[in-house]
Amino acid sequence: MRRKLAAGNWKMNGLTASLSELTALASAHPDPAADLLICPPATLIAAAAQVCAGSPLAIGGQDCHAERSGAHTGDISAEMLADSGASAVILGHSERREDHEESSEDVRAKARAAHAAGLTAVICMGESLAQREAANTLNVIGGQLSLSVPDKSTAENLVIAYEPIWAIGTGKVPTTAQIGEVHDFIRTHLESRFGSDVGRGVRLLYGGSVKPDNAAEIFSVPNVDGALVGGASLKATDFSPIIKALEESA
Ligand code: PGA
Repeated sequence: MRRKLAAGNWKMNGLTASLSELTALASAHPDPAADLLICPPATLIAAAAQVCAGSPLAIGGQDCHAERSGAHTGDISAEMLADSGASAVILGHSERREDHEESSEDVRAKARAAHAAGLTAVICMGESLAQREAANTLNVIGGQLSLSVPDKSTAENLVIAYEPIWAIGTGKVPTTAQIGEVHDFIRTHLESRFGSDVGRGVRLLYGGSVKPDNAAEIFSVPNVDGALVGGASLKATDFSPIIKALEESA
């Protein structure tokens, strides 16, 4: 019932030459059994959207401002992302929460702006290693869910990405039991807050060191509807087997 989603987060990587990775990806997956989303740096969104027009590859941003427009030098609004051809935006990534001190309230304001611009908000959350070791993971996730996710979210305009901070870019991956525990918790939270239709319809992605060789195992976990992939989304030859593993997952 939930269509799977493979999303790539290029972070601060990619120049014009990297657009050829999108062409390669689109031609390798002309009719995928999953939704595909690539979030390149803002400088490439318009060109990426052009390159991917008519293909199953959707393009997204990595952040947006909470306001529609105004005196915010260097920032980009959700409306601008949509105008450039983006259909989604990653919000609340731990690198933004850390590097730019974004709070969950900031993330919620940005998600509201994304929804107003017609974008799907891919809201990220996850615990630090210290929080996990203190057995605080579900408390942390519960707080991030309550504060980061806007009330008017729907199954179409919201995707949640669970990304344990200690797994991002480290090659360390939680056990399938650990992933399953958090994803089940998120599902239950969404169902009780939004009702079962919306709660069951929202896609839940796992993110953090997803690679071609661990993707199938991660995708076998119930309530994992796809992945948010960093490093392994930069090259079509790495991302493509992850997409295949997702398509083949039950
Ligand atoms: P990674 O990053 O796949 O390189 O660990 C994931 C992310 O930060 O979204």
